[in-house]
Amino acid sequence: MTEPILSIRDLSVIFDIRPRGAWPWTPSLRLHAVSGLSVDVAPGEILGLVGESGSGKSTLARAVVGTVPVTSGEIRFEGSDLAAMSPQDRRRHRRNVQMVFQDPLAALNPRMTVGDIIAEPLITHDPATPRAEVKARVREIMDRVGLLPNLINRYPHEFSGGQCQRIGIARALILRPKLLICDEPVSALDVSVQAQVVNLLRELQSDFGLSMIFIAHDLSVVKHISDRIVVMYLGRPMEVGPAEAITRTPHHPYTQGLIASVPIPDPRLERARDRPLMEGELPSPLAPPSGCVFRTRCPKARPDCARAVPPMEVVADRHRVACPYHEAQKVLQQA
Ligand SMILES: Nc1ncnc2c1ncn2[C@@H]1O[C@H](COP(=O)(O)OP(=O)(O)OP(=O)(O)O)[C@@H](O)[C@H]1O
Ligand code: SF4
Ligand SMILES: [Mg+2]
Repeated sequence: MTEPILSIRDLSVIFDIRPRGAWPWTPSLRLHAVSGLSVDVAPGEILGLVGESGSGKSTLARAVVGTVPVTSGEIRFEGSDLAAMSPQDRRRHRRNVQMVFQDPLAALNPRMTVGDIIAEPLITHDPATPRAEVKARVREIMDRVGLLPNLINRYPHEFSGGQCQRIGIARALILRPKLLICDEPVSALDVSVQAQVVNLLRELQSDFGLSMIFIAHDLSVVKHISDRIVVMYLGRPMEVGPAEAITRTPHHPYTQGLIASVPIPDPRLERARDRPLMEGELPSPLAPPSGCVFRTRCPKARPDCARAVPPMEVVADRHRVACPYHEAQKVLQQA
């Protein structure tokens, strides 16, 4: 078996929060943004991360990039432990792992031209690159992401949302990273543009041989691009498996609830549907439920779900579920 490019083991990221106006001696609160997550990304694989707001998706992304400290557990990139990297290795890591963000326009400096925005990471990492070469590489990557190279001297506000996201993608790819993390890259775009950007990312992934982590709230977006999917809830993994298995035969009640919350366009199918909807509000991450964190909203919860965090059980090849009472559910029509 090929070695994973990224290997995450039992990762936890805890933020210490000081409530506003608290006395200096008041202990800070501990917010578990990510807990007990283990997953690998193979070379050339696209891993989808899905879950409601606050489930720890962006924190996980930032921990992999190295901008958020890991509280416990391990992240290995190409076999090297992130926590033990020398400053030189960290620089190489930052070059190898690039991010694309949600709000394309907000992520771009409005006072820089598109050419300068895209060139910036290249100039920062390889300051000796001749100007002519920088320009040639910017034009080449613009063309590759579907932007006309003769727009190189324009400013971000002159572009549409979809084009701004292409600029963000070009900027992330100019250093030829090995892993691209896309954090909700299409959530801020019109539905008609979302598919174009998802298709572009898929094409680029294949042409450049990239590995990718693709984050979204919406399982119906993630399933189109991912090889495997991690479903997260309140910082914990609920179900991890091949995209096909997760979307066609989900086992975890949370995954089933996420799929059921997406309406089916055909009204007859929608009416005929058995929908195990989730109840209630998302609990505060500062006071997560004991045992299974999903139990306060789980239609299948029983008293012993409060006792201990359910371990991940293997249900099929590379398919794991954190629920001892899981049951496969056939999805009528994919979400
Ligand atoms: N720097 C920080 N300091 C304190 N708490 C944080 C910090 N960053 C994130 N959090 C908290 O950690 C939890 C997970 O946040 P995160 O942004 O990773 O979730 P997410 O799944 O990306 O959500 P969304 O879908 O809204 O982007 C949230 O409760 C959030 O408020
Ligand atoms: S462990 Fe219990 S509460 Fe958690 S998902 Fe399974 S049935 Fe529901
Ligand atoms: Mg986020």
